[in-house]
Amino acid sequence: MKTLLSSWMLLLTVLSFVSCERVLFPVPAEGLGTSVDTTLKDFMPFPFGAAINMTRTDTQPLYKATVEREYNSLTSEGAMKMRSIRPAIDSFYFAGADRIVDFAELNGMRMHGHTLVWAAIPDWLRDFPGDSTAWEQILKNHIQTVVTHYKGRVASWDVVNEAIADNGTIRQNIWYQKLGPGYIARSFQYAHEADSAALLFYNDYGHEYSSARRNGINSLLRSLLADSVPVHGIGLQMHTNINIHPNALRVAIDSAAATGLLVHISELDISVNRTNDPNYVLTPAVEADQAELFRVIAEKYASLPSSQQFGITTWNVGDLDTWRRPTYGFPDFPLPFDVDYNRKLAYYALIEGAN
Ligand code: XIL
Repeated sequence: MKTLLSSWMLLLTVLSFVSCERVLFPVPAEGLGTSVDTTLKDFMPFPFGAAINMTRTDTQPLYKATVEREYNSLTSEGAMKMRSIRPAIDSFYFAGADRIVDFAELNGMRMHGHTLVWAAIPDWLRDFPGDSTAWEQILKNHIQTVVTHYKGRVASWDVVNEAIADNGTIRQNIWYQKLGPGYIARSFQYAHEADSAALLFYNDYGHEYSSARRNGINSLLRSLLADSVPVHGIGLQMHTNINIHPNALRVAIDSAAATGLLVHISELDISVNRTNDPNYVLTPAVEADQAELFRVIAEKYASLPSSQQFGITTWNVGDLDTWRRPTYGFPDFPLPFDVDYNRKLAYYALIEGAN
């Protein structure tokens, strides 16, 4: 406790230095990182996690060490998606996802499952010729086989991912086309039947930049609750960027909490390269602005009733690991650790905001 307290005092000193002096005397993240021996999981008053993939834990020792040191919650970035776990109609491939669950257990971390039902389906399913009864059977069987496999080990699930369109109506994805809008409620029921103790989340993006999306998502959740559908939480992906207004972040979090559900900031990252500059370099000034947005998110999240704080999860660990680089093809620096796993200003701002 004494060590924790003295680290805490040190951290406060460091933070006040950073926030007062960062414009004139930007502090190198490396210097701060090595001077504080406690980590996110000690300082955050709610679970703090990252989405990870085992290819990186296997090949990057610093990545693995950072994950082990910093987090008390994990999400699988890809290994539990239908494309990974369901290679064919009659087979499941659990070995990849099992390794992440083993890793979480070994390190005493909570494991959050992502995701059971999403528009990104395997090719074999896209070509599946069956009628709606056959599609419903695939949906039910998929959800229940996966949830049953991880029963007692994966305590929460993103059951349905990204089911709301940009205009706030139900997205006309493949599940909607085959099964109608009721697939959403039924997915939650199927998951609940398989594991009645699991916490079941609806996960989506854009709450912070689109009132149409935010209202559509929140009203979907309200109607599921009104119909007694077993939904327990709302996941805000929050793949956001440096131009977002802090109040937009606050509104997103508050309005999600107004549903009364558990709130998970489930895929947080803050993009900085908004012009797709192939030679983009993160300057100290932009790093400080980015840190301020991380601070606002943590501060607002910490103000929610603790009974609704499921936690914050960043979408991977360091700036080299971000999905944005391979997906968009440009350098970006959206995470609290830099390309060498040094703590960025964002790291300290998260702790400052949450406390
Ligand atoms: C992304 C992964 O990070 C990538 O590695 C993969 O190629 C595509 O999916 N919303 C989600 C996540 O819910 O599952 C997505 O993850 C990012 C957007």
